[in-house]
Amino acid sequence: MRPLLIFSILLAAPLLKAAPVPPPYETRAEHDPNGIGKFYLGREIAHVMGHQAAGWLERPEREEEERTDLLIEAMQLKQGETVADIGAGSGYFSWRMAKAVGTGGKVLAVDIQPEMLDLLQRNMARREVANVVSVLGTTSDPKLAAGTVDTILMVDVYHEFDQPFEMAQAMVKSLKSGGRIVLVEFRAEDPKVNIKKVHKMSEAQAKTEFAIFPDLKWEKTFDVLPQQHIIVFRKN
Ligand SMILES: C[S@@+](CC[C@H](N)C(=O)[O-])C[C@H]1O[C@@H](n2cnc3c(N)ncnc32)[C@H](O)[C@@H]1O
Repeated sequence: MRPLLIFSILLAAPLLKAAPVPPPYETRAEHDPNGIGKFYLGREIAHVMGHQAAGWLERPEREEEERTDLLIEAMQLKQGETVADIGAGSGYFSWRMAKAVGTGGKVLAVDIQPEMLDLLQRNMARREVANVVSVLGTTSDPKLAAGTVDTILMVDVYHEFDQPFEMAQAMVKSLKSGGRIVLVEFRAEDPKVNIKKVHKMSEAQAKTEFAIFPDLKWEKTFDVLPQQHIIVFRKN
């Protein structure tokens, strides 16, 4: 081999990152009745919340119980950002974020249930919010273009993904360099959080599941909310 070629390979070597290896999914016959019996890195995946329960997402006491205002504040969204609200449901966070990013920015509201997206669109029209675009995803693909998103928010949804590896891989790909994933999940470590086990996640579990992706680094965890973690991962 010629010295110039060897030199070029040595220079490029640190830039070549190994592709993440998908951890195996496991199916167990004995499992939590609120879970689907499929496990990922030791965690049982929860059932998807059906669109019939969408009213619960819009309950008036939610703001006080979950301090959703503090979550929006903690995100420090900037005017002009492109935000993806993955598992957007009725759009509870979509319109709040649409206001924060302004008319120069946009919110891509992704869900797998067309009924949820119909409801979301009605809610956006009622609020006269024009910068929310609904996107029908699949259970393995949020259908976002590569390198286009500044911030991904997931509130009470990641634990429902039945293909979390594939979803996370696609989300990382959709982020711009320097973009972030903001993961919000009920705190599994806190016995005072009165939520079903499979609907909670510990910070350690979240870090384990996202550490698989070499482009993503844990940045910080805010525990300013009464019941949920806000865990931020940043793309290098
Ligand atoms: C509990 S709701 C949360 C809705 C919203 N984030 C909120 O906090 O108001 C979860 C939503 O995630 C959606 N979902 C589940 N798996 C999904 C996936 N793989 N991709 C996109 N959405 C998904 C469900 O259809 C449901 O609307």
